[in-house]
Amino acid sequence: MQTTKHTHSDQPEKNVSPQPKDALPPTPPLTDDSVSDASADGDDVEVALPPPSKEPESVLDIDLKTPDAHVPRDPRLIRLTGVHPFNVEAPLTALFDEGFLTSPELFYVRNHGAVPQVRDEEIPNWEFSVEGLVENPMTITLTQLMNEYEQITCPITLVCAGNRRKEQNMVRKSKGFSWGAAGLSTALFTGVVMSEVIRRARPTRKAKYVCMEGADKLPNGYYGTSVKLNWVMDPNKGIMLSYKMNGEMLRPDHGKPLRAVIPGQIGGRSVKWLKKLIITAEPSDNWYHIYDNRVLPTMVSPEESANNEKWWKDERYAIYDLSTNSTICYPQHEEQLCLKGTPDMYRAKGYAYSGGGRRITRVEISLDKGKNWRLANIDYAEDKYRETEKQLFGGRVDMSWRESCFCWCFWTLDIPKHELAGAKDIFVRAMDESMNVQPRDMYWSVLGMMNNPWFRVTISVEGDYIRFEHPTQPALQPGGWMEKVKKAGGNLANGFWGEKLEGDEAVVPEEEQAKEISMVKPDLKKSITIDELRKHDTEEHPWFVVNGEVYDGTAFLKEHPGGAQSIISAAGLDSSEEFMAIHSETAKAMMPDYHIGSLDEAARTALTNSEEEPDTSDVPRDTFLRPKVWGKATLHGKKIVSWDTRIFTYKLDHPRQRLGLPVGQHLMVRLRDPATREAIIRSYTPMSEINDEGFMDMLVKVYFAGPGGKGGKMSQAMDALPIGHFIEMKGPIGKFEYLGRGECLISATPRHVKSFVMICGGSGITPIYQVFRAIMRDPEDTTKCTIFDGNRLFEDILCKDELEALSKDNEQKATILHTLTKAPDDWTGLRGRVTGKLVEENCVQDKETLVLICGPEAMEKSMHQALLAAGWDDDQLMFF
Ligand code: MTE
Repeated sequence: MQTTKHTHSDQPEKNVSPQPKDALPPTPPLTDDSVSDASADGDDVEVALPPPSKEPESVLDIDLKTPDAHVPRDPRLIRLTGVHPFNVEAPLTALFDEGFLTSPELFYVRNHGAVPQVRDEEIPNWEFSVEGLVENPMTITLTQLMNEYEQITCPITLVCAGNRRKEQNMVRKSKGFSWGAAGLSTALFTGVVMSEVIRRARPTRKAKYVCMEGADKLPNGYYGTSVKLNWVMDPNKGIMLSYKMNGEMLRPDHGKPLRAVIPGQIGGRSVKWLKKLIITAEPSDNWYHIYDNRVLPTMVSPEESANNEKWWKDERYAIYDLSTNSTICYPQHEEQLCLKGTPDMYRAKGYAYSGGGRRITRVEISLDKGKNWRLANIDYAEDKYRETEKQLFGGRVDMSWRESCFCWCFWTLDIPKHELAGAKDIFVRAMDESMNVQPRDMYWSVLGMMNNPWFRVTISVEGDYIRFEHPTQPALQPGGWMEKVKKAGGNLANGFWGEKLEGDEAVVPEEEQAKEISMVKPDLKKSITIDELRKHDTEEHPWFVVNGEVYDGTAFLKEHPGGAQSIISAAGLDSSEEFMAIHSETAKAMMPDYHIGSLDEAARTALTNSEEEPDTSDVPRDTFLRPKVWGKATLHGKKIVSWDTRIFTYKLDHPRQRLGLPVGQHLMVRLRDPATREAIIRSYTPMSEINDEGFMDMLVKVYFAGPGGKGGKMSQAMDALPIGHFIEMKGPIGKFEYLGRGECLISATPRHVKSFVMICGGSGITPIYQVFRAIMRDPEDTTKCTIFDGNRLFEDILCKDELEALSKDNEQKATILHTLTKAPDDWTGLRGRVTGKLVEENCVQDKETLVLICGPEAMEKSMHQALLAAGWDDDQLMFF
């Protein structure tokens, strides 16, 4: 085939070795002692050899408490999913600077769970099976694989289907975590062509697929997937079984001791820690084959995908071949370029790849948002391997006959500096030999995979310098032009890049962008250890942690609107997720007053690694709720009360269990956003009786998204939850408790009341309903109740029948007033909002009356002002 020889080959240069010297013995060694055998014989073609590599020797502290405590790793890798499982990419520049081949310590890792532990002495006897629709099922050891088959060595780029997903997540959160543009790496893989093994097992005529299964046991079974049998048998597809990477035995994260390598396809098909090859008539039915690595149609929302299995089971949406993609690596993110002096040119550089073995045939650069393009130079280091025929790391390099391109290539373009200074951005796009060109527009999909729109780096001129910015930074790392645009309310939709297509002006100046609320004392530099924090896991002096900062909640115990218990339940814990999910900006702005220091590094690690208290007790508990531990209740039934209101029934742990919620108190509900997996936490009061056993009912008004807004996150997520799935609950919380017969506790202080004024709106009726019901059910309870229930439409009134049934025989102590702002013509009740005047007209104000208020924030605020103006004291008002 024709090979491309570019003079601009500046990237791989540093990896081009002098002429390789000696050959390896025909049988490769079983341990890592061939590391230094970057040796070859046969001809004098210079191929790119691995960069210098140093295998990490010690396990990082952060991994010590995880199931991967046996895996030494490189600290430079950026963790994308917290501490564990290990999903990482290298910093983009570090990856690119290594050149054509990546050292194993910087090679990206995608692990769905814990890394199987395989000791060196176990490697020779590692077994895998070939089974299913074969006439000769076999079990093969790694020693047999090495001795009884021809060994080959071949450079291959693996790419995770999630590469560049952070860009999708910036536009709309997908179900996947945020890869930057370094979710790919290249290595020389040594092993055996997979078809040779399968041929010996003799597939039957019905055989169509090769399913692969790893040794990593995950929540939904062992990791597994499949590819077509005829691809495996096609020499041009290059599918292999590999045990060496860059001449070393595979490291634990990359499948030690054996993995499949499926070139040209997404990394997800290259099963690590390989245990089984199962030949089948149908594609794999492994959970990870079905629910991962798919591009569902763009209109399938996270909720739709959760509710409707059919999207996942449609093989048309499974991803195999990679799509065409490219990235700019130089200029780097935040690189600054001096406009003065020489040289006049700036050399832009980056990578490109395509799928299915297709060659990248052009890479184009635009400095004017795609109106004009210029051709970049392309260097295919892989081609050098086609020109040679030699032994390398115990395997034969023999690619001269094969035209497929399985590796990334590098592009470069020299651009005059003054042209960069006059441009707003640099775009790159690549095209492959089938004329598959990267699109301008993003194809958003639920899993956020295969993201490949034009890659854009922005340019801003600052005096004599220009500064470049990449679209994003991986994981939760801040930075990138997409984040800026988003904060400024700019348009990230296709074709806009946050700006008007024709216009040049930036959307909103940086200084006008939304300011984050600071929750710390600016000058406080106190470091707090984990022992100090744990000493304050007390009711009297509760300390808690939000985003690594420590707060002392003691002074706020009495005032906290959720009651002292809300703070006590967080004592000694990292409550970042909960705090951020439920607190308003006003609450956050109060936090510096309670800030007492920052957790030290060891304490942060310890807190990250400490899991939530597991339920270890064998004895079934009488009550479900616990203040510090989230319990799981399964959605058992859903009754549609009106177009937007539901009663959800949740099943508790066992049929005799009670919820354990005192009258007047609430519980916290936690659900994961179906799209982002972020925690959504809200407090609710159930409808069901306090002493009901086995089940609990919750009345919920669903705030649907519409032209007016995004709707309620929690209520929509609850509504989207399929029957049989769980929500999490903990509690009780709340300042107020009704003990019966006029006796209450307010912040644990007893108080006697003769009457209640109960003001509510919408689903704010639920806590009021609990107290009202308790009073109406007890013939000895003479406490008077006047309910003011404000709603918009007649159909918005909740629990109307239940309230009426309870008050029917209790007229001497119950008054219920409904008022509507959009009442129908035949409505004979009150009209308008609940006002201070309405309360004054219907209730007498005295010291033994307590006002309970629960409704939308605006209503609570206006009632607060009106009641104070009418002479009520704050200690007579109780806001839920
Ligand atoms: N094989 C097993 N057994 N378990 C896994 O979690 N992850 C897959 C694939 N093979 C995975 C696996 C995915 S999604 C990718 S992208 C590649 O491994 C990553 O390979 P690497 O970690 O060696 O880079």
